[in-house]
Amino acid sequence: MSDDITKIINELHIYEKKLLKELEKDENITPDKIAENTGMDIKSVMSAAGSLASKDIIIMEKDVEEHFQLTSDGALFADEGLPERRVINVLKEKKQIPMKDLMGAAGLQKFEVNIAMGWLVRKNWAKIDKGVISITEKGENAFNNLGSDEELLSILKIKHIINPFELPNNLLKGLNELKNRKNLLKDTKKVDHSFKLTPLGSKILETGITIKEQATQLTHEQLESGEYEKLSYRPYDINAESPNIFPGKMHPLRKIIEEIRDIFLNMGFTESDGDILNSAFWNFDSLFQPQDHAAREMQDTFYVKNPARVDLPDEELVERVARTHEDGGETSSEGWGYKWDVEVAKQSVLRTHTTGISTKYLESHEPPFKMFSVGRVFRRETINYKHLPEFHQVEGVVAGENINFQNLLGILREFYKKLGFTQVRFRPAYFPYTYLSIETEVFFEEKDSWIELGGAGMFRPEVLKPLGIDTPALAFGLGIERLAMLRYDINDIRMLYKSDIKWLRELPLDKGIKLD
Ligand code: DAH
Repeated sequence: MSDDITKIINELHIYEKKLLKELEKDENITPDKIAENTGMDIKSVMSAAGSLASKDIIIMEKDVEEHFQLTSDGALFADEGLPERRVINVLKEKKQIPMKDLMGAAGLQKFEVNIAMGWLVRKNWAKIDKGVISITEKGENAFNNLGSDEELLSILKIKHIINPFELPNNLLKGLNELKNRKNLLKDTKKVDHSFKLTPLGSKILETGITIKEQATQLTHEQLESGEYEKLSYRPYDINAESPNIFPGKMHPLRKIIEEIRDIFLNMGFTESDGDILNSAFWNFDSLFQPQDHAAREMQDTFYVKNPARVDLPDEELVERVARTHEDGGETSSEGWGYKWDVEVAKQSVLRTHTTGISTKYLESHEPPFKMFSVGRVFRRETINYKHLPEFHQVEGVVAGENINFQNLLGILREFYKKLGFTQVRFRPAYFPYTYLSIETEVFFEEKDSWIELGGAGMFRPEVLKPLGIDTPALAFGLGIERLAMLRYDINDIRMLYKSDIKWLRELPLDKGIKLD
């Protein structure tokens, strides 16, 4: 125990020791007096006290004293009476008075007129009807009775300053009334601190502290001359409290997006992007999604009013896509067998997926290539813990002579592995634009369940041919928010968009799997 005390004493700052010494001499000493006796400034006294309090050596007590004084308006009313009182004085004889005569009759200044009227009504001393003010019964009663607000005003006129604790109840009521009025009182708060020794503090003083100058900064000379060996130092308190520091950092969703971009760039993919406002042509038609098919409603599309139409690409391409939809065109497919409508293709939509970026890229590039893109997509979803009307997808397409379905599975496995998800499985699925089609799921151990993360497949010839692609092409489109939810262990997708500063601050910087 006494070892502990010695250790605590050794770790005290010289200011803390000085403060304790002063408390030893006079247990009621004020911070100002300590500053005066020791030559410390008041800030150092208070910070030494704070530090002693955090170590349970003293208790800091705070005594707030509030005082009230009159403002210049207040002083004016104290001299001349509250504006409503001055009106009542006139009404005493006249009983009624037109509003327009008020200033002259009651000797009010312009700014006092509204105050008078307001309080006459609030106090129910007068009624105002058709521009005439007439006294009420309560107003008559007020002739000979000062309100408690008025009583306090006259006290303040003499005493200048009052402490609410010294007021009897009725005057306290008056004080509250005056406080409710604008600009009559100003209050000054005086905070007095006092320090009390705790049992630990007393023990420290019993053990005894000596005040010895301690070295805080070493000079070049002290080091050179060897004087530093003789100086006394204060040991570090490695348990001292320190403030939390929250450095700026990337938003978690942005961070996972950057990680995903890194992964694909490292796998040799080229990045591309596209517009959020898209034609139905690129979003649906180029993907062999029939115009009269529920597929377009499948994703609850946002159609845009302005602009309601978007220009289509060159006519030959549009023609090839139209033919493919109608009868299969150059492909050996029969198509969907309906009359394709160019107006439907021109509709402008907020892209419902990023897959349109891939078809556009296919149309303007020669295989072989590996392309990916990351973007925001929009769907008319009801907002809840796992759905938002906008979210992000990472989309990819790989085209070349020898590209096959196995490559697709390999790429997806590799991608998820790099993100830290090693258990991946694929389920057969349907998309109008791919065959074979799959849905990807990863196993999430903490929830002991498989979670669906996106779709993929081999683009159909009905997609590729009209775009001028003769090689096979694999493609995938994966949700990003779900991944972020798994990574950051959140149950509500909205957290990613809420800017909850506490959560963002406390999120560890290194949450995430490092790339090799
Ligand atoms: N576009 C699909 C969606 O948003 C995902 C998708 C499925 C993308 C298959 C693809 C694909 O590229 O081949 O749900």
